[in-house]
Parts: sequence; structure tokens; C-alpha cells
Amino acid sequence: MTVSPSKWVAVARSGTVGRKPVAFSIDGTPLVIFRLDDKLHCLLDRCPHRSTPLSGGRLVSGSLECPYHGWRFNGAGHCTAVPGHVGSLPRYRVPARPICEHGGLVYVATGRDPGEPYLTSLSGTHTAVLFAESAVRSTLAEVAENILDATHTHYIHKGVLRGLSDRRYTVSVTVSGGDGWVEARYEGEPRQEGLVSRLFEGERSVSIGRFIAPGIAEVEFWGRSGPSLVTTFHLRQHSPDEVRGIGILAGPAEGGLGFIKGLFLYPLFRLAVAQDRAILSAAHDRRKLFPEQKQVVGPLDVMRQHIDAILAGKRPSVADAPVTLTMEL
Ligand code: FES
Ligand SMILES: [Fe+2]
Repeated sequence: MTVSPSKWVAVARSGTVGRKPVAFSIDGTPLVIFRLDDKLHCLLDRCPHRSTPLSGGRLVSGSLECPYHGWRFNGAGHCTAVPGHVGSLPRYRVPARPICEHGGLVYVATGRDPGEPYLTSLSGTHTAVLFAESAVRSTLAEVAENILDATHTHYIHKGVLRGLSDRRYTVSVTVSGGDGWVEARYEGEPRQEGLVSRLFEGERSVSIGRFIAPGIAEVEFWGRSGPSLVTTFHLRQHSPDEVRGIGILAGPAEGGLGFIKGLFLYPLFRLAVAQDRAILSAAHDRRKLFPEQKQVVGPLDVMRQHIDAILAGKRPSVADAPVTLTMEL
């Protein structure tokens, strides 16, 4: 598969953004989004006057009104009113960001020429999709690695994603990638005994874990004829200590059956997310106690160095030299 990373970051589900301004942050930059005449807008969440968060204001006559002195800014960020001022309007401006909607999500651009927004590898009309939002005390690299790490499932998700036995199977893992993405392909893993597999997967043949810039972690579970289940997490660093994510559960629609399966799967999906959230935040707190201590990169940590490289804007080494190894999963 060839992946084209984009510069769009998914920040909200479409239905949650209306006339009430919604505040969020990307890498610590506060932004506010709102909908005016069916059009979405994104502005820096800071009034140029006294730095008040504009997200605390309201929409009035086609502009967002600052809650402090009532200055107003339109969707492009131009000042449209300075209440009480007599004479021509001074030219003030709040920086605006490109914003778009795609597949039920709202995306904000983090750079020029943002490309095409990415939803999930299973996008298309024959896909059943469910969304879940979550937040965790951690960093983006840790969360992305956790989602793509197969080795923790024996401990954190016993009985849910894994069976109750300690049985392991020998699998072959191939790690490859390109500019802005990396993936690990697991082959030789038989169907697992966890609840999720029992309910939803046929004979599992292949699973793929993938990271795509700027913050997408995705796992595909393949049946005989192609992906039978895909979980895609759109992650962003909300603050130095918090990652927020929108998770997508996607599967073949199967004439409505896929959606029904999804409704059964959804609580398990949420349970797995809660299990990861607990262990990730415990680890984050401990990391902060030992800021000088480096973490060990173990022999099975096949993704981390590549995720780190991509987040640093570098091409992952496996893009030019794919690696294959054997492990017991
Ligand atoms: S701080 Fe926004 S109008 Fe004064
Ligand atoms: Fe997990």
C-alpha cells in the first residue's frame, strides 16, 4: 500500500461543531472553530486586544464576538466591529487556519499545501463506521506506539483482544514505510481467542499496524478476502501532558450487518481504550518523575524509532531498507 500523509489533523466530529464555538489545541496552539452559514471556520483562540480566548464568546451578525470588550471577527479573522469606537474601523486580524470536513470529521491544516485528509484505510461507501473520542495523559509517540504494539495485548487486554491462555504463536513481522509513514505487517498469526476475534474475525491471515503523519495510528485485521476490521486513531498533542484522539472503527458494511457487528464491538473497543489509557497515564506520570532517564528500546519495539523519526520530520530508515523479523506473539 502506498500512503500519502497529509497535513490535516482531525479535531472533532462534524456533528459537534455548530454555532457554539469549540476550543481545542494542537501542539499547544489554542484554536477555536465554529460554523457560520454552513461554513466552518478556524481561528487562533486569542483576541488580539487583550489575549482573551475568543472561544468564550458567541456568534453575532456573522462574526465571533470577544467576551471581554465585544470586538468582533469574521470567519477570515478580520475585525468587523470595535463597539463604542466612532470613525473608520481599524484593521485588526486574528490568524485563520484552513479547515475542512471529510467523512464525518472536521480537520484543521497544520501547514501549507495540506493535501487530502485521511479518514481510514477502509473509506468507501461499503463501509460501516463508528467513532469514539478519548483523551489520555501521555505523549503522541507513546500513544501511537501503544496502539501499534502487539506485545502488550497479552497483559493489558487479556480476554478482550487476547485469549485467557498464555499461548503464543510464531509470527513474521515486516516493517516498511515511506515519507511520513511506517507499517508493520504480521503474518502467521492464527485467529486469536479474545472476545473481539471470536465475535468478528474469520480466519485471520494478516494484520497490519501503521503510523501516518501527522498523528494517525491504524490497525487492519485481514480475513481471507481483505480487511475485515480497521481501527484508526487520529491523535493530537493537546497539551504537553495530554493526547486527544478520535478513534474510528470501520468494517465492511455487509448490507447492514457490519453496522450491527460494530455496535457489539463498540463496548469492547471502549474497554480496550480504557485499559490502554490507565497504563499509559501511569507510565507518563512515572516518566515525569525521571525526566533524565532514557527508555529502553527492546528487541520487539519495531515501530518506535520510526514513529519518532516521522514526528521529527525525517524519513524512516525502513522506507529504504524494510526489515523482517520473527517473534512469538
Ligand atoms: S480582549 Fe477581546 S475585545 Fe478586548
Ligand atoms: Fe492496547
